Amino acid sequence: MSKITGDVINVGLLKRVFQYIRPYKNTFVWAVILTILLAVVAPLRPIIIGYTLDQYIFTGNYPGLLNMTLLMLILLLLQTGLQYSHTLLTNTLGQSAVKDLRINVFNHITKLRLKYFDNTPIGQLITRTVSDMETIAEIFSEGLIMIIGDVLMVIVIVGVMIARDWTLAVVVLLPVPLLIMATSVFQKAIKSAFQEIRTEVSNLNTYLQEHITGISIIQYFARENQEYKKFVNINGRYRDANIRSNWYYSIFFPVVEAISAISMGLLIWYGSKTILAHPSSIKPGIITEFIMYLGMLFRPIRELADKFNTLQMGMVGAERVFKVLDTNEATENNGTLAPDKLKGSISFEKVWFAYNNDKFVLKDLSFNVEAGKTIALVGATGAGKSSTINILNRFYEIQKGEIKVDGVRIQDYELDYLRSNIATVLQDVFLFSDTIFNNITLNNPDIKMEQVVDAAKKVGAHEFIARLPGGYQYNVMERGATLSAGQAQLISFIRALVYNPSILVLDEATSSVDTETEMLIQHAIENLMRDRTSIVIAHRLSTIQKADQILVLDKGEIKEIGTHQELLKLDGYYKKLYDLQFNSVGINSPPN
Ligand SMILES: Nc1ncnc2c1ncn2[C@@H]1O[C@H](COP(=O)(O)OP(=O)(O)O)[C@@H](O)[C@H]1O
Ligand SMILES: [Mg+2]
Repeated sequence: MSKITGDVINVGLLKRVFQYIRPYKNTFVWAVILTILLAVVAPLRPIIIGYTLDQYIFTGNYPGLLNMTLLMLILLLLQTGLQYSHTLLTNTLGQSAVKDLRINVFNHITKLRLKYFDNTPIGQLITRTVSDMETIAEIFSEGLIMIIGDVLMVIVIVGVMIARDWTLAVVVLLPVPLLIMATSVFQKAIKSAFQEIRTEVSNLNTYLQEHITGISIIQYFARENQEYKKFVNINGRYRDANIRSNWYYSIFFPVVEAISAISMGLLIWYGSKTILAHPSSIKPGIITEFIMYLGMLFRPIRELADKFNTLQMGMVGAERVFKVLDTNEATENNGTLAPDKLKGSISFEKVWFAYNNDKFVLKDLSFNVEAGKTIALVGATGAGKSSTINILNRFYEIQKGEIKVDGVRIQDYELDYLRSNIATVLQDVFLFSDTIFNNITLNNPDIKMEQVVDAAKKVGAHEFIARLPGGYQYNVMERGATLSAGQAQLISFIRALVYNPSILVLDEATSSVDTETEMLIQHAIENLMRDRTSIVIAHRLSTIQKADQILVLDKGEIKEIGTHQELLKLDGYYKKLYDLQFNSVGINSPPN
């Protein structure tokens, strides 16, 4: 027996799911009590009806009939009340448990290191936190407790039937093994169909999420038709999976009908035969009673298959959700240092870094940046510029060497502290569908409006923000994305500035804006870089020339390092790059 239940439900997993109803123990206990009550109360109605038939109707005792009707009414009200509370409680239980679980999962996901997201489709994570959660809630609202209730109901009804008339019970229950067999076959078939449905839902979510996010690419390249066809395909598979599961139902339900009809036939045949042969041995009331019992018996047995699947789907969902929870890919946070203020000197000491295995994208990198100075990273696409800054705030962990800030290994700082002291402005600005104010503060209550306005003035963005309807309370998603790329970029500069970081990192922060806006932003950048250590990655050499130090990267290695003048004199890689930029503008550089 334990082997069977072990196969069908994973007990360890179920225990873990049950951890989440601990805070709602009372609700759970009440739900179970109501389940038991409902099962016990169920046979009362047939008993009363059978009794009424035999004692009052066939004997013509009408005042008694009225009493019995009243009793029935009270019973019905009681059952309705119980049913109502039961549904309410089980649903509350499921949704409350899942609410907590969802918060846990969201919290966990937001702490995972970026590498995890490199390999995990976002749509899949959305499925985990939304629809998989729904299946877990149903463990409580539709699955487990209902199964307990139904099994109890079957036991009670069978017990009462045997107690009322055991020969009649045996006769009508003869086809039940057939029903149990059919149910078991159906349950297995529908399980695989359900699993397929869940997989296709996840595929749909992933596809939709990626294609809506990438809608501009699809439209730019006029790929709507091809993408449409792919979508039709995925959609078709989702439909087929649903139809397959419905097909099983369409077979199963008539089978159940047939079996219950056989039982009913046996009841009428045996009952009437006995009444005719020995009129006193069986009363018509009991036949009516048994007709009702059969209805009450077949419904739970038929639904058991469904509820079992609901339970199993919930378990599958739970397994997937727990797998996300068990992903041990948060960046280790063992550092404790959080000094009042970082000076901001940076040193890389023989740093080796690979995203995957031994495919090193940074090789033996060593350089120093004094506090308050600016270093510029230069190199072809893929040279490793972004990787260099990704490892500074520990978005990715290095394999060899040390990175130190103010002479201390970055792992020794408390992680949030380290990250809040390094502000990064990227080329692509991400704005949340929220107000400008919240997009700047990222909901940090410590940052006050005055600071935001002050920062906005410093980067020269205050005027355009003040002109928006609602000013800083303007919702950036309302009426379409109305902010220009340059304006969005300015907002990301304010975001960096209000956190007053000691270290500022700009990764091609101005390459998506036009020259005019860039000049505007240039002013913002100079304000930002004042009194801070800065790492700047830029396409345009004009931005780079002013840096205290220029680092030329090629295929993950340092080629040259020095000031603009020094590197020009070196007449190497940087000089070529410099000449190329000026050639492209049409100025002839001296032949070399
Ligand atoms: N998330 C990632 N996972 C695996 N490889 C990556 C990832 N990001 C970048 N790379 C690889 O690392 C190398 C350096 O990339 P990157 O630092 O982004 O270059 P740059 O910023 O100089 O253009 C490239 O070969 C790139 O393919
Ligand atoms: Mg880059």
